[in-house]
Amino acid sequence: MPATVIVGLQWGDEGKGKTTDFLAPQVAMVVRYQGGDNAGHTVVTGTEVFKLQLVPSGVLYPHITSVIGNGVVVNPATLISELDMLISRGIDVSRVRVSRSAHVTMPYHVALDRGNEDRLADSRVGTTGRGIGPTYGDRAWRVGLRVEDLEDRNRLRERLERVLPERNLLLGAMGIPPFEIEPLVELAAGWGDRLKAHMDDSTWLVQDAIARGDHVLFEGAQGTLLDLDHGSYPFVTSSNPVAGGACTGGGLGPLQVDEVIGVMKAYSTRVGSGPFPTELEDEIGKGIAARGHEFGTVTGRPRRVGWFDTVPLRYAVAVNSISSIVLNKLDILSGIKTVRLCVAYEVDGRRVETWPSSGAALERATPIYEDFPGWDEPIHDVRTLSDLPENARRYLTALEGHAGVPIVFVSVGPERTQTIERAWRPLRNRSAVPTIERPGTPAR
Ligand code: GDP
Ligand code: IMO
Ligand code: MG
Repeated sequence: MPATVIVGLQWGDEGKGKTTDFLAPQVAMVVRYQGGDNAGHTVVTGTEVFKLQLVPSGVLYPHITSVIGNGVVVNPATLISELDMLISRGIDVSRVRVSRSAHVTMPYHVALDRGNEDRLADSRVGTTGRGIGPTYGDRAWRVGLRVEDLEDRNRLRERLERVLPERNLLLGAMGIPPFEIEPLVELAAGWGDRLKAHMDDSTWLVQDAIARGDHVLFEGAQGTLLDLDHGSYPFVTSSNPVAGGACTGGGLGPLQVDEVIGVMKAYSTRVGSGPFPTELEDEIGKGIAARGHEFGTVTGRPRRVGWFDTVPLRYAVAVNSISSIVLNKLDILSGIKTVRLCVAYEVDGRRVETWPSSGAALERATPIYEDFPGWDEPIHDVRTLSDLPENARRYLTALEGHAGVPIVFVSVGPERTQTIERAWRPLRNRSAVPTIERPGTPAR
């Protein structure tokens, strides 16, 4: 039962898109299991750049069935324009399936998200403004619209009559004009007409594929530190990017997961508000941001940049059952004299090596660093580990030691082929993941 989950180990934008695309030739199906059009996954093939928000990153391969699972919140306007973009660039989208149970982001969700952020002013979360929180909120309140509702005007009207009066009251209190039911019914029914051919029962698609022995890849959006339960609440997204989310949002059971691949980059970035202990506000940080093109794919906002932090890494490896790691963007660190790695925090005079569940403690954490001599050489053209500069290898070994699981790919550029493969055998022929020595158990 080859089912593999790909999950971000940091605050998103770790390079999940590139990783999914890289593994796609080996799989039959790629499933997105959470998030919505807040995600921005970039895939670079030769000179072409694809930026995907809702369609799974495997779509560029004609043999792959791309599934938008029940746990995703779908803004149909975004999905339709993404399908149009792909069609216009010669990509076959007939194998894109969208779950009938996925919830729909409506224009009033977007307005509520933006209105709420304005209201919060200085304490805003810094959301992508895509209506993600309000859509998941309505789902939990059982007043949401699902993709299947788009097929039936009467059901759309009935659903909107249940939810809209109250949402309009809230919008009114924020000084935002109300929405009317009939124009929304027409808009949503139009989306339904367009998406009808793509609607499906995603859980059975996944279960049938696994039963056939097809290899299914579950592509997470965002990252572990933005997880609603495991991130630094309230500065998180409204879904569960962790590997467990693939079960609830992708339609498989926990024992059906064979491998969980964690994706991380060689430094940290974060978009939006919230604690970020290793944040760099100096020239080194600006250099990394510039070389790494650290601007949000969805909003264009500059991403905050910092040194790599092993404290949340160890947490992310644990809560996701990470079995192997993909390290991206190692090339961006070339030219830095000393590369710093956060190995612990000091909180109120105490050394802390475990990720604090308290957001307040995290706000007070100052990083304790281990320094590594850097390397000057560009490494974009390196394809084997032994050709990496020695100092880059030392840094990589340290990261692996902290993670306690093997790094199986190292990425040295955005393009598909700019990847160092290591210890990689197709999952299905692999008896066990290679083990490496664990560092001492961190003190709590
Ligand atoms: P995702 O949200 O996790 O899919 O990541 P994004 O696509 O938002 O951000 C990652 C960015 O880094 C994209 O522009 C990728 O093309 C780029 N990228 C991925 N891996 C590498 C790498 O190893 N080196 C460089 N220079 N860029 C990379
Ligand atoms: P990918 O999949 C980075 C962040 C927002 C904000 C918080 C909540 O490309 O890695 P939301 O709009 O979800 O309610 O915003 O989450 N955020 C992301 N940051 N990458 C993403 O997606 C993100 N999706 C949401 O910046 O801090
Ligand atoms: Mg992204």
